[in-house]
Amino acid sequence: MKKKDIKICPSIFAGDFGRLTDEAKRIEDAGADRIHVDIMDGHFVPNLTLGPKALAAINRATPLFLDVHIMIYNPFEFVERFVENGADRLTFHFEATEEVESVLSYIRTCGIEAGLALRPETSEEFAFKFLTLCDLVLLMTVSPGFGGQAFMPEVLEKIEHLRSFCKQHRISAGGKIAQKGEDLPPFSIQVDGGIDDATVPLCLKAGANEFVSGTTLFKAKDMAEKISNWRNIKI
Ligand code: DX5
Ligand code: ZN
Repeated sequence: MKKKDIKICPSIFAGDFGRLTDEAKRIEDAGADRIHVDIMDGHFVPNLTLGPKALAAINRATPLFLDVHIMIYNPFEFVERFVENGADRLTFHFEATEEVESVLSYIRTCGIEAGLALRPETSEEFAFKFLTLCDLVLLMTVSPGFGGQAFMPEVLEKIEHLRSFCKQHRISAGGKIAQKGEDLPPFSIQVDGGIDDATVPLCLKAGANEFVSGTTLFKAKDMAEKISNWRNIKI
């Protein structure tokens, strides 16, 4: 994986919700590529977090790319609200809707990137037919809903399989199919949950290029140093 294709996405879920905008600045100052914003509805996952208004406040505080991960049922109904309030990419769950293709296409029609997330127990093969319609697949490496959980190593095989499928079919960034000899950036595969010094190299080796981390980055003595170390890992 080329260094420029590695994206580090601190999850603001692990930050201090009383100082959300300061935490957004902190992520920006640490040199992150995106801010990962977790939205939970208390139904799809047994927890609640932020809504569009809080997203708007984060958006006003920083020019950084807002990577919004919605763990909610009926994602279609909320697309516009998140777009209006600053999302640069909206990633919803395969398991949360019957209308995956329509939601992906609607998100793109709204002018932002579309991502498809899979719970750890959902086969990566369900994502295959949507790859040319989206910008990212998020393979959850914990059960969605809470920070601070242990990484599930069984997801590594799923990452490997998805990356090899993309290579075999020349599916590249943004779901574009590369022509023979054309060197496009890779299709984005994101991992989220239990990402730390031990699991970044494992996921990178398996083929992931976007890394979401909450607990580890927010507990780090120096967030900037950790981000830079992860970007410079050689495998
Ligand atoms: C969990 C969220 C994650 C969470 C990761 O449902 O999607 O983004 O913030 O937290 P850590 O890095 O603590 O596992
Ligand atoms: Zn997340």
